[in-house]
Amino acid sequence: MKTYSLNGILVEIMPNIASSWTNQVQSLAYIVAALLFILALAGLSRQVSAQRGNQRGMIGMAIALVATVIVAFASVQANLVSTIVLTIVAMIIGGTIGIYKARKVEMTGMPELIALLHSFVGLAAVFVGFNSFILHPSGSMGSGFHLGEVGLAVFIGAVTLTGSVVAYLKLAGKISGAPLTLPGRNWINLAGLVVSFLFIVWLVSASTFGSGFSALIILTLVSLALGFHLVAAIGGGDMPVVVSMLNSYSGWAAAMAGFTLNNDLLIITGALVGSSGAYLSYIMCQAMNRSFISVILGGFGSPTQGGEEAKDYGVHTEIGATEVASLLTSAKKVVITPGYGMAVAQAQYPVAELTGKLRAMGVDVKFAIHPVAGRLPGHMNVLLAEAKVPYDIVLEMDEINDDFADVDVVLVIGANDTVNPAAQEPGSPIAGMPVVKVWEAKRVIVFKRSMGNAGYAGVQNPLFFNDNTDMLLGDAKSTVNDIIAAL
Ligand code: TAP
Repeated sequence: MKTYSLNGILVEIMPNIASSWTNQVQSLAYIVAALLFILALAGLSRQVSAQRGNQRGMIGMAIALVATVIVAFASVQANLVSTIVLTIVAMIIGGTIGIYKARKVEMTGMPELIALLHSFVGLAAVFVGFNSFILHPSGSMGSGFHLGEVGLAVFIGAVTLTGSVVAYLKLAGKISGAPLTLPGRNWINLAGLVVSFLFIVWLVSASTFGSGFSALIILTLVSLALGFHLVAAIGGGDMPVVVSMLNSYSGWAAAMAGFTLNNDLLIITGALVGSSGAYLSYIMCQAMNRSFISVILGGFGSPTQGGEEAKDYGVHTEIGATEVASLLTSAKKVVITPGYGMAVAQAQYPVAELTGKLRAMGVDVKFAIHPVAGRLPGHMNVLLAEAKVPYDIVLEMDEINDDFADVDVVLVIGANDTVNPAAQEPGSPIAGMPVVKVWEAKRVIVFKRSMGNAGYAGVQNPLFFNDNTDMLLGDAKSTVNDIIAAL
C-alpha cells in the first residue's frame, strides 16, 4: 500500500492546483492589487480621502501577498512543508517587529523610521539580485539581459541601502547633519557612477560564474560607497528632500527586483513608488527653492553651508497667556501657523479646542501650513486632522501668504525656520526658501520654550525681535491650555 507524508501529499497537490487555476487567479489578483495601489495614491493626494487611500493600499497589499505566497508554494517541488513553515516564521517575525515599531514610534520620529524602512527595501533588492545570480533556474548564469537586471537591482539597492542608513543616522542625530565636503566630491560621485556602470557591463559580458560573481561583489561595494557618499554630502536642511528621494530610489530598487524575480506586480508597484517619490522630491525642492538636480546628485553645485555670523537683532518682548487671551477675544481675524514644536508638545488637541472656542465667539480662524513645516511632508496636516480641525480652514502657505496684512493676530505655534524672514536675506543659509509672511500681520505671538534654541536649520530668527512680535515662552501644550482657561 502506498503511504503519504504531509510533504508528499502537498507536493503532489500544489503543482496540480498551480497548473489548473492558480496562475490565472494570480494574474487577476495582481491586476486588482495594481488598481488598488493606483487608487490608493489618488486617495492620498487629498486629506479628506487619505484614510480611504490608505485602506485601499492595505487591501491591495494583502491581496498581492496572499496571491504571491500561494503561487510560490504551488511551484515548490520539494521540502514544501519546511518552505511553508519558514515563510510563516519569517512573516511572523517581520510582522511583529513592524507592528511593535509602528506602535512605538512618535510622530516626530517618523522620518528616521521611514529612512530605515527604505534601507530594508535596498537590502532586499541586493539579496534578490545575488539570489537570482547564484540560483538561476537553468543552472547557467542566464542571459545578458538577466545579468543586466541583476546588476541594476544590486546597484540601485546598494545605493538605497547605505544612503538610507546615512539619512537615518543624520535624522536621528547619531551623526552630524553637516554635509561631508570631501575635495572633488562631485567627481567622486561621478566616478562611482561610471565605475558601477563598467562593472555592470563586465557582469553582463562575463563568461564564467567566477568572473561574473567577482564583478557583482565589486559592483556592490562601489554602490554601497556611492550611496554613503551621495547622502553624506547633503546637509541636514535638505534631509526632507533626501528622504523622499530615497523613497523614490527604493521604489526603483523594488521594480528592478521585480524584473529579476519576474514578478509583474513588483515592477508596477516599484515604478509607482519610484515615480511618485521622484515627483514628491521635485515638489519639495520647489517648496524649499532648491535645485532638484543638485539634491539628487548629492548636493552638486550647492553652496557649502557655513555657520551664520551672529547678528544683534535687539531685545525681544514677552507676553503672558491672559494677555494673549484678551488679544484673541478682541480680534476679528486670527491665523495659526504651526511647526515642529506643535508636534513635539503634542499641542494639536488644545490648539483644536482653542480654534473651536474662538470660532464659537465669531472670530475668523485659519491655519497657514508651510509645505515643509515639521519633519515630514504633510506633518502638520496629519496632526490637525487627528485633532479634528475642519479641513476647509487649513490653508496652504501660497493660499494665504498675501493676506497677512488683514490679520489681527498670528499665533506661531512651534514654528521657526518656516516663518524666518532671514530667508529673504541673500547669504543666509536658508536664503531663497519660501516662508510664511507672518510678520505682515498686526500682531504676532510666537510660542517657544526658550530664547536659547534656533530652528532646524540653526539660523537666528529676526521675527522674534520685531516690534509687533511677542514671545509666549513655555511648552506649547500648557501655554495653549492656559490661554483656553483664560478665555
Ligand atoms: P523648526 O524650525 O524645527 O522650529 C521648531 C520650533 O519649535 C523651535 O522654535 C522650537 O523652539 C519650538 N519648540 C520645540 N518644542 C517645543 C515645545 N514643546 N513647545 C513649544 N515650542 C517648541 O520648525 P519648523 O518651522 O516647522 O521648520 C521645519 C524645519 O525642519 C525646516 O527647516 C525644514 O526644512 C526641516 N525639515 C522638514 C522636514 C519636512 S519634510 N517637513 C523634514 C526634516 C526637516 P524651542 O526649542 O526653544 O522650544
